[in-house]
Amino acid sequence: MVRLGRQVRFSITPFLDTPGPGFNAYASKPAGEGLSLFLELAVELVAPAAPQTGLLVNVSDIDRAVRRHAVPVFTERVREHLRRGEHIGFDRIAALLRQAGTHLGDKFGPARLERLALKWNPFRKLAMDMNAPDLLYFSEKFEFAATHKLWNDGFSEAQNLRVFGKCANPTGHGHNYLVEVTVRTPAAGPDLEVGRFEQVVDEHLMQVVDHKNLNVDVPAFRTRIPTVENIAVFAWECLVGRFDPAQLHCITVWESDRTYCSYYG
Ligand code: NI
Repeated sequence: MVRLGRQVRFSITPFLDTPGPGFNAYASKPAGEGLSLFLELAVELVAPAAPQTGLLVNVSDIDRAVRRHAVPVFTERVREHLRRGEHIGFDRIAALLRQAGTHLGDKFGPARLERLALKWNPFRKLAMDMNAPDLLYFSEKFEFAATHKLWNDGFSEAQNLRVFGKCANPTGHGHNYLVEVTVRTPAAGPDLEVGRFEQVVDEHLMQVVDHKNLNVDVPAFRTRIPTVENIAVFAWECLVGRFDPAQLHCITVWESDRTYCSYYG
């Protein structure tokens, strides 16, 4: 079995009846005219790759199915909510994902629709596993800048330089870290308040690490080496149990766009 992911981008023009087709699927199709809502639906499918083609499902077929069967669900329901002046909270986004999943479920042959995730800006998304649609996974990215030095006091200087290379530079070096925090919340439960969620992450993690020398300013890293692995675990320890009734599900820390680490507790 392999898991194939495809992101389909589209726009909703709330009050225009004919939004136009769009010819740049990389940006969004339909394109959206004027100020419009940009959305990205990530589809994950599971199946073995077909021996003759090496494909699970041709991504063009995924795009076609999503645009034909799922995008109209979002377009029509979102316009309806807006026309009525209704807030589109997590419960309504969950209903949209569930409905889109029902429409898409049988459209990929033997491949199973495993997960749908809706991204409404580059930093926030809400995901649903199709086999457990009563749970939602909300993820948001945060940024912090910090200095660190990878160094083990138990090693000799030569050993440190050999193991950690230039990361053992005695006066440290910096990164702009990205942290994605994912929480799990019951779809039927009270709406997760994004502002409250952000406040918790800011208070218990960002203020601890942002613009700090991790080795010197953060007590936990006086005894632990602040590698991206240990930062992910530390972030988990800072945040676990703080989102009640939602549960912390995963922390991913990017040290650069090429290096990241996830921790699930
Ligand atoms: Ni580094």
